[in-house]
Amino acid sequence: MSSHASPDDQRPAGRKPLTLHRLREMHAAGEKIAMLTVYDSSFAGLLDEAGVDCLLVGDSLGMVLQGQPSTLPVTLEEIAYHTRCVARGNRSAWLIADMPFGSYQASREQALASAVALMQAGAQMVKIEGGGWSAETVRFLVERGIPVCAHLGLTPQSVHALGGYRIQGREESAAGTLRRHAGELADAGAAMLVLELVPAALAAEISTLYPQLMTIGIGAGPQCAGQVLVLHDMLNITRGKLPRFVRNFMADASSIDDAIRTYVRDVKNGRFPDPQLHTY
Ligand code: KIV
Repeated sequence: MSSHASPDDQRPAGRKPLTLHRLREMHAAGEKIAMLTVYDSSFAGLLDEAGVDCLLVGDSLGMVLQGQPSTLPVTLEEIAYHTRCVARGNRSAWLIADMPFGSYQASREQALASAVALMQAGAQMVKIEGGGWSAETVRFLVERGIPVCAHLGLTPQSVHALGGYRIQGREESAAGTLRRHAGELADAGAAMLVLELVPAALAAEISTLYPQLMTIGIGAGPQCAGQVLVLHDMLNITRGKLPRFVRNFMADASSIDDAIRTYVRDVKNGRFPDPQLHTY
């Protein structure tokens, strides 16, 4: 596609737009949900056409786009900007925007104002990290018509408190806290739950205990309702040592489009993640 072509000129009539209702139907029918992060209009169009169900404008953009050492410096304005870019390129995928560090922790009112900014930028759902205190915030947003994806396990905005990017919920007491937090978030009305870097058995248990939460795993085993990866990781763009849950989808692909389609296919048919290779 030349840089002068608009997405509408080039794209064949695609699938019907994904809705929360449709995602719940897929989940109830046992169809896995394929999610990837994305930060710009061109990739949004490519991922949408390749059949990715959910696009996440993740605050991982701080690391993969901005070269920051963590997600902490990312601002609400930056997420809103990238959400607008992605929304322009997307036609049918469900669009989720990350609430960045410091944009929702102070009060429910602060969270509402931040969520409104992201929904007005084109998001259909916002993602909030953390459990315990956050359930009240999730309820406040959901009651006001804002779909929420929660995020437990390794929550990168808390990297300094957690002591690094390490697996969470291995010990029984930590697993118990994770189970309890998931239950509270389900009660509060969260529709999705990203589970990052948690043992596969615990993620499977949470997925069964709370079927109303569509669990999306990243380093959390194959039994979640769906999977997410950071786009730059699975396309082998990220430099340095990657966590073991990442698969390089470019290794056997003829193009980026081919790699994305393989990701969608392998999530849907349960070939990714591999319990031996990508799971804890
Ligand atoms: O910011 C991000 O990319 C994320 C995913 C890793 C789930 O939160």
